Formats: sequence, structure tokens, C-alpha cells
Amino acid sequence: MYPDLEGKTVLITGAGTGIGQAMARRFGQEKANVVINYFSDQENPDDTIVDIQKNGGQAVKIKGDVSKEEDVQAMIDKAVDTFGSLDVMINNAGIENEVPSTEMTLDNWNKVMSTNLTGMFLGCRDALKYMTDHGIEGSIINMSSVHQQIPWPHFVHYAASKGGAKLLTETLALEYAPKKIRVNSIAPGAIDTPINAEKFDDPALKKGVIELIPIGYIGKPEEVAACAVWLASKEASYVTGLTLYVDGGMTKYPGFQAGKG
Ligand code: BGC
Repeated sequence: MYPDLEGKTVLITGAGTGIGQAMARRFGQEKANVVINYFSDQENPDDTIVDIQKNGGQAVKIKGDVSKEEDVQAMIDKAVDTFGSLDVMINNAGIENEVPSTEMTLDNWNKVMSTNLTGMFLGCRDALKYMTDHGIEGSIINMSSVHQQIPWPHFVHYAASKGGAKLLTETLALEYAPKKIRVNSIAPGAIDTPINAEKFDDPALKKGVIELIPIGYIGKPEEVAACAVWLASKEASYVTGLTLYVDGGMTKYPGFQAGKG
């Protein structure tokens, strides 16, 4: 537990499902005020809100598209109007779809880039503006991916967006360190979330993914959330510009296990 997170206001984009939802719940356990951004009517943040309240946190939801300036501003306003501040911004919303690069439409490319990278930029920009205007020594966490490092055929838009997330995070970390605002990213590997459901429901595909994970299993959203609360807390006060890989070793060349290479 991280007592300094109690009463802090945390805005998490894409928190209707998956890793975002797990982070919302975990910040609730830390008794934070959580603003849950979600995108589609199929998502139901109400259960998450109840869980957070049961654990002593507070929560509100706001629907919105991170690629739209006015929606991102509305999320920040919601945090400030409801809880009086914004201390932690987590840019988590992301999408992906598989398509060979020569068949990728411009629309498909733009959609992924505008959610994953432009949405991240807007969230950072507006949160940093609020924090600097109000002298808040806050924390920003960008959800990247192992694919900021590992090339991923058929996902060139996604890999490019995550490669962009790396230097976006590092650049803003450098730019805002003098204001004591920390900007870090978390790069998950294969995690058991709805984005991967189709793949992991197929035993052969799932086995193929597990072979790429030295630690031997698909990660749980809670294992990512555990890193997010640490990174947001005072315990990580001297950490900025970091990409924290939460990937069971996936980025550490699993092909080179003992006896190989
Ligand atoms: C993607 C997953 C994928 C994992 C490892 C993540 O960024 O969202 O779909 O399984 O990377 O390749």
C-alpha cells in the first residue's frame, strides 16, 4: 500500500476494461479519487465504481474519445470539478488490429495513431498544463507496450505509435523535471485482457505467445496495476523518464534461453 496516494486524484483513460480497469480498482484500494474515462457503451464502469467505493476510494466516470481535444479537456475538468485537483494522469487508452502493412488503409493507420499517440499527447499536454498552472508536483504514466522495442509485423501502426510513446515520454520527462512533475511509462507484454481475448481463446495461438514469455505465463492486469501505483507514489519520487517493462521477460530475447545461441 502507498499511503500518500490516499485522497490523490487520478485520471485513467480507457479504464472501462482491461489494464485500465485494473488500475482504477487498484488506485481505489489505495483510497484515491479515481476518474474513469471509458469509450464505448458496451463498457460498464459502474461495477468498478462500486468496488472503488467499497475500498474507501471515490470514483466518477466520463465517456470520451482521447483523440478529441474537447473530450480530453472535459476529462480533466471532470477531475478538477469533482475532486478539486489532478495529481496523477494515466494515458492508457489504446487500440490495435492486425493487418498486413500493404493492405493497411490510411483510415486504419490514422485511427490507431490518433488514439494511441495523439491521445497520449493530448492527455500529457492538458495534464501538464493543469499541473504547472497549479504548482502540482504530479505524476504522469503513459501506457506503452513491449512493441516500443519489439518490431511487430501486421501491426505497423501499433508498433509505430508505441515507438512514438517512448520518445514522447522521455522528452516530456526532461522538459518537466524542473517542475518536479515525473513522466514515466509502463510497457506491458502479453496480458490477459479483452484486447487479447480472441487470441488467447485459441489454445494454439496462446501457446505460441507463452513461448515468447520467459516467465512462462500470460500476465494479469493486476500485475501491471501494481507497478502503476508504485510509479505514481512518493516511493518513486526520483524516477522519471523510465519505461518500466512488465512483460515476464518478453523483451529479453527469449530465443536465447540456456542451450540456445
Ligand atoms: C499487445 C498484445 C500483445 C502483446 C505482446 C501488447 O502491446 O496489446 O496484443 O499480445 O503486446 O505481443
